[in-house]
This record gives sequence, structure tokens and C-alpha cells, in this order.
Amino acid sequence: MRRDAMNSWQVDTVAAQRRPVDGLVGVDVAPMIHPTAAFAAPTAAAFAELAVRPRADDFYTRYGNPNHAETAAVIAALEGGETALLYASGMAAITATIVAFGAGSRVVAQRELYGGTVGFLERIAPRLGIDVDFVHHADLAGFDQALRTPAALVLLETPTNPLLRITDVAAVSALARRAGAVVAVDATLASPINQQLLGLGADIVLHSATKYLGGHGDLTAGVSVTSNALAERLWSDAYLFGATLSAHDAWMLQRGLRTLPVRIRQHNRSAAAVAAYLTGHPAVVRVHHPSLAGHPQAELIARQMSGPGGVLSFEVRGGFEAAELVTSRLHLAARAASFGGPTPAVVLPASMWSGMASSAVQDLVPAGLIRLAVGLEDPADLIADLDQALHTQGQPQ
Ligand SMILES: Cc1ncc(COP(=O)(O)O)c(C=O)c1O
Repeated sequence: MRRDAMNSWQVDTVAAQRRPVDGLVGVDVAPMIHPTAAFAAPTAAAFAELAVRPRADDFYTRYGNPNHAETAAVIAALEGGETALLYASGMAAITATIVAFGAGSRVVAQRELYGGTVGFLERIAPRLGIDVDFVHHADLAGFDQALRTPAALVLLETPTNPLLRITDVAAVSALARRAGAVVAVDATLASPINQQLLGLGADIVLHSATKYLGGHGDLTAGVSVTSNALAERLWSDAYLFGATLSAHDAWMLQRGLRTLPVRIRQHNRSAAAVAAYLTGHPAVVRVHHPSLAGHPQAELIARQMSGPGGVLSFEVRGGFEAAELVTSRLHLAARAASFGGPTPAVVLPASMWSGMASSAVQDLVPAGLIRLAVGLEDPADLIADLDQALHTQGQPQ
């Protein structure tokens, strides 16, 4: 399905729920919500059949729900995948994937991953009998070497949070395929509008739907997009893990998706303008964003991404204290742990990452790093706000 066909397709799905019998009945133009825990079966035989049907969306909401099914279908279409599974959070999607493929075996993961993912791999995976080997995201020889020992799962993230590193998904997937490992990629920062990785060889694309897919900062959700066969395997564990997305949040997510392409277009433009502004600022040591001219991974970015995304990070002179000062002067950006909503959000990863991952991983995050996610504001307003916040930083002291 073409991405620009998404909205008309959704209207059809919604309309199909209430077909006009004689052509006179008005039908909903917005999705309906099914806030029911269970669904009544008409007969004992139907109940028995539904009880064992994988991924039934009309038996019990922990197994599935029409709001899950409709929302998952939209996300699968956006990613060009066969199907999708929804979870109560991004971490639930990630951990269900690791446990489904890695339990009792080995995971090869890139070193720079979201802090929560690293925390799970470092602290919880060993308790579940999962061996983890970390490889630098750009070290293809390292992936090749690591995959010479049998592995069940290769876990990637691109672009990474918070340093916006890019992993060559086609190249790593080719190595994984040769080794018989499943490739899962956390694509949260890009959203399906800016990159589609299943066509490049990934088997599973993961998102924290809390971010861009939901798009309004009012829900937590996770998703994995994959083939029907892999989804059935994942689901057969996931419905027992029980990290079920509520019907209400699935419905809210469905609503958020209807504006995803326009929101991402604005985020892309705005973050590129902010990144360009920061690049020239005397108080800024380094800016990380896929839009930047002269990016060391520019060729890979051009091959793999169609837009840079709304998250950027930058390092200020003066380390953590200077970064703290800058963020405390900002008026427009909320100091908030999430991103992907209508308003800008700023965090100091050095403080946020502590507690999630080991000190070795925390060391990858520079002390003076500020992660800024643009919202839907006029970028000129955000640049003016940054300008006043950085002003004193730029002055000789
Ligand atoms: C890249 C990435 N993956 C996964 C997660 C976890 O998602 P959630 O908070 O929805 O569990 C986050 C959260 O910030 C993230 O940034």
C-alpha cells in the first residue's frame, strides 16, 4: 500500500464496521472503540474454536481486540510488512522479541541501543539463560565474527537514541541471514515514514509507539511488524506474558496514526533547521542529526532513510553542568523523558541513562549531551528559544 493511500484505506476500514443497509444510514468517519475484556460466542462450539484460534480479535482482549487488529493493520501497511503485534509499551515489544528468539541461546546486539534495552540485555537476559554479545554498530567485520558462533537473534536500533548513529541494516541482515539468525530493528526514532527496513532484510521492525506513532504524548504502546509466521510465534508467547495494550490506547494510537505522515514531514523540516542552526553556534561542540551536510554516514543515510526524523542531540561546551544550565533556560521545551508529541522535549541523557544500563554503556553518552526532540511548533520559535538559552554559554567567560 502506498503511504499516501493510508487515510482513505482507514476510512474504508472504519466504514466497513457499520454498513448502510439501505443506503440511508450515515456511517462513522472515525474509528470505533471496543472497550470489552471478552467477546460472547454465539455457541459452545464457536467458543471452543475461538479459544484456540491464534491471534483471535474476538475472544478475549489479552489475545486480541478489533482496535488492536485495525491499528496493527495500519502500522503493518506503513512498514510494508504482513502483520503487526501491539504491546503495552515499546519495552514490552522489545523484551517479548528477545525472549521469544533468544531464550536459552544467544543474542548479538549492537552496543549503542536505547538504555532500557541495554538494561534488559545486561541485567535480565542472563537470568533467562540468554547470552548477549555486543558489537559496534558500524563494525561489519565484528558482526560477521560474532555470527560465526550460533545466534538466534540480531538486535539493532537505527537511528540510535540519543546519538543518532545509523546501522547498515541491509549489510548486517545479509550476515545474519547466512548465519540463520532473525534480525529485529528498533526503528522508533525514524518512524515508518522515514525508513522501511523490512525490504532491506530485517525480519522484525520494532517501535515504541509511545513516540511518533501515537504522536500526542498521551499513551504508551509498542509494536512489532513482521511476517505472519513470525507474528504467530511471537504472539504465542506474548499473550501469556500479558503486556496487552488496552483497547482505549489502541484506539488512541489509531487516531494518532491518521496524522503521522504530516506530523513527520513537519518534524523532519523543523529538526533539520534546528540542527543547522546549532551547528554554527560557538557554545556547541558537536551536533548529531542525519540531516547534516558532511555527516560521516551520509552515503548510508541516503540509501536507508528518506527523512532525518525529529530527534537530534548536541554537545555543549562545559559538560554536564553547562548542559543543565542550557536546558533550564529553555522555555519551549519540556524537560520530559519521552518525545514524538506536538511539543518539544529535552533531556540530558547522562542523567537519564544512569540506572538503566551499566557504566560501560553510560560512558558512550557524553556528559554535555542534550537530546532535543522538536515538536510541531514553528522552528523559528524553537531556534529563538535555543538562541537565548545558549547565549551566555557562547560568551567568553
Ligand atoms: C529507541 C527507543 N526504543 C524503545 C523505547 C522504550 O519504549 P517505551 O518507553 O514505550 O517502553 C524508547 C523509549 O524512550 C526508545 O527511545
